Amino acid sequence: MGNENKSIHEFDLNLICELHAGMERQGPGSPEMTIKALSFLDNLNKFSRVADLGCGTGGQTMVLAQNITGNITGVDFSPGFINTFNDNAKKLNLQERVNGIVGSMESLSFQKEGFDLIWSEGAIASIGFEKGLNYWKDFLKTDGYIAVTYESWFTDERPVEIEKWWVDNVPEISTIGHNISIMQKAGYSLVAAFTLPEKCWTDNYFIPREAAGKALLKKYAGNKTVEAFIANMKHEAELYSKYKQYYGYVFYIGKKI
Ligand SMILES: C[S@@+](CC[C@H](N)C(=O)[O-])C[C@H]1O[C@@H](n2cnc3c(N)ncnc32)[C@H](O)[C@@H]1O
Repeated sequence: MGNENKSIHEFDLNLICELHAGMERQGPGSPEMTIKALSFLDNLNKFSRVADLGCGTGGQTMVLAQNITGNITGVDFSPGFINTFNDNAKKLNLQERVNGIVGSMESLSFQKEGFDLIWSEGAIASIGFEKGLNYWKDFLKTDGYIAVTYESWFTDERPVEIEKWWVDNVPEISTIGHNISIMQKAGYSLVAAFTLPEKCWTDNYFIPREAAGKALLKKYAGNKTVEAFIANMKHEAELYSKYKQYYGYVFYIGKKI
């Protein structure tokens, strides 16, 4: 199999983290879309408890914190990301309300029914959409919200090349309608679902990632593993440009019944 067709799971996690460590975000998104998602939620106040699962270095967490008054705990399994997250919180003087901890989103060490809101941008695929919605629900209060972005098909049919690439990377990937029905079956009422604009992928993710990739290639000049990894990332961006009418990230917002 050519390196460009490898799935992300075949690359070293440390390399993936090193590429993304200096970036503001580790996946597609934008402050505007985080704020838009937040605009659908009510009843949040200074006593609200929020978890941001798969928070990365906290690009979206800091935006959340600047737009709500409650306490936010970020969880990510990368210690490097969490260090940057806590540094960022301090720089913005948010450290009293925003704390990052190293942990797995698949085994949360929080008290059940303790959160008013669970947020997760670009990370639920790691546990699985259905599994994540079901497992995380136990940690939400009744009437608490969930807001996640997740890779979704826009059409019922797709060209084989892009279908195969996504099924290798996110086997559960499905259409928006199906994902909404999964959310409802998991015990949430649908509050909103909207698609992230193209610039969330290009300007805010692929372009900074390409620059980070160039720096990595320079640092590890001649290293075949790094070269193969960066070629794979480039291929992913090319696929997006070719097939973006077929898929994208969708914000799914639900309320625990
Ligand atoms: C695509 S990035 C998104 C990061 C950030 N939310 C954003 O939108 O910029 C996915 C994040 O989830 C984290 N992650 C993946 N699987 C995880 C798991 N099982 N437990 C905790 N964090 C995980 C990764 O380390 C990474 O930071």
